[in-house]
Amino acid sequence: MISRLAIFGATGDLTARYLLPGLAALHAAGHLGDGFRLTGTAREGWSSAEFQGWAADQLSRHAGHLPAPSRQAIVSASRYQLADVRDPASVAAVIAGDGPVAAYLALPPAVFPAAVSALHGAGLPPDSRIVLEKPFGEDLHSAVELNRHLAECVPEQAVFRVDHFLAMTTVQNVLGTRLANRVLEPIWNAAHIAGIDIIWDESLALEGRAGYYDGVGALKDMLQNHLLQILCLVAMEPPISLGERDLRDRKIDVLRSVRPLTDTDVAQRTRRGRYLAGRIGDRQVPAYADEEGVDPARRTETFAEVELELDNWRWPGTVFRLRTGKALRRDRKEVAVHFRPVPHLPFSHAGEELPNVLRFGLDPETLALELTGIGARAGTLVPLTLGTRLDPPELPAYGRLLLDVLNRNAALSIRDDEAEESWRVVTPVLSAWSKDLVPLEEYPAGSDGPGSRQH
Ligand code: BG6
Repeated sequence: MISRLAIFGATGDLTARYLLPGLAALHAAGHLGDGFRLTGTAREGWSSAEFQGWAADQLSRHAGHLPAPSRQAIVSASRYQLADVRDPASVAAVIAGDGPVAAYLALPPAVFPAAVSALHGAGLPPDSRIVLEKPFGEDLHSAVELNRHLAECVPEQAVFRVDHFLAMTTVQNVLGTRLANRVLEPIWNAAHIAGIDIIWDESLALEGRAGYYDGVGALKDMLQNHLLQILCLVAMEPPISLGERDLRDRKIDVLRSVRPLTDTDVAQRTRRGRYLAGRIGDRQVPAYADEEGVDPARRTETFAEVELELDNWRWPGTVFRLRTGKALRRDRKEVAVHFRPVPHLPFSHAGEELPNVLRFGLDPETLALELTGIGARAGTLVPLTLGTRLDPPELPAYGRLLLDVLNRNAALSIRDDEAEESWRVVTPVLSAWSKDLVPLEEYPAGSDGPGSRQH
């Protein structure tokens, strides 16, 4: 196991909200040895004591449910080092020490190439890892360039491209539910499934993240990576194992089978939107364009929806609808599998067959099968729901990812070809949207999105 983690960009939101809590959860679950050391680095001229004070505050804020000794263990294991991530000499001081190190780049993507060069120049110890946050590049071209640059500096197995959705237990449960029983897989195909919705609707708005989000937008923030990864797990052929080669080979098959969208397809099968002022529960939310740090002229979308089809043997004619948005009326984070109507309903007066849907609740963690059945009143068909709530995961997604990084397990890392193929899928959408072939619709914060009214 790698026992040293260096976080570049350690004073930011990602470290505060996800990495420090992930580490404390690893400690609480007994996964971190006593020799674990954390170096935080950024441009702020902090002392180690200041960094530790900040880390302790963030841990009580974002991981207050974890035992105090585990939070304290992470604080005590940390030190701070001022560094310029572009400068090899400066980076060398951060990674100095015995044995391999995991270098986590919690940085804006524009800095990745220079940081990778500096790490290479600084002399990464053998068996080290470079961890890159999304977005991996800003488009297909920059992703290809970044992969090329990484390959010049380190072997592919030393690179860990993060997509924390893959580490969510609920997302992994899509494979569990499909492949750990005989019930679903025989009907898991276009003959029985009309459509699959992959939805990540958030009631959260921008939450002060304009510096990152404005100019990125919903398509690149969520759909190009997280939702396409879920699509892969939903639509993939059964892998031989969940090892890094088998899993990623089957995922790339799915991405390669996505039918390329033409301009006409994009006009007819995608939507984009941006929220206006509105009320979400008891919160009054300003219009996205009026949020601090937003440049309205960028026309960044806060809602994106794309319909895709797969050209392969299993899925001809099944529609995959990927949708995500911010400042919506309610959180709705699920995969909904819509089964086709039965070939014949033998109930003469019972009315219409109701939708038959399997729902994977991604957050909160639920599983529900909605089946049409016979109602208590003679001659009626009613929806019957079989549902369960899953146990909360032992580790949060970032805890699981950090454990994989330290254990050098790359199964949940996005491989170089996957990162590029995901950009290929969304490139026609980006291009048609930039030509304004799809209007930027407006929706009130607290509504169900474009085309709906505020509730
Ligand atoms: C992040 C996106 O990757 O995922 C955010 O940048 C989004 O915009 C978030 O809100 C959702 O994931 P989680 O784990 O924070 O619910």
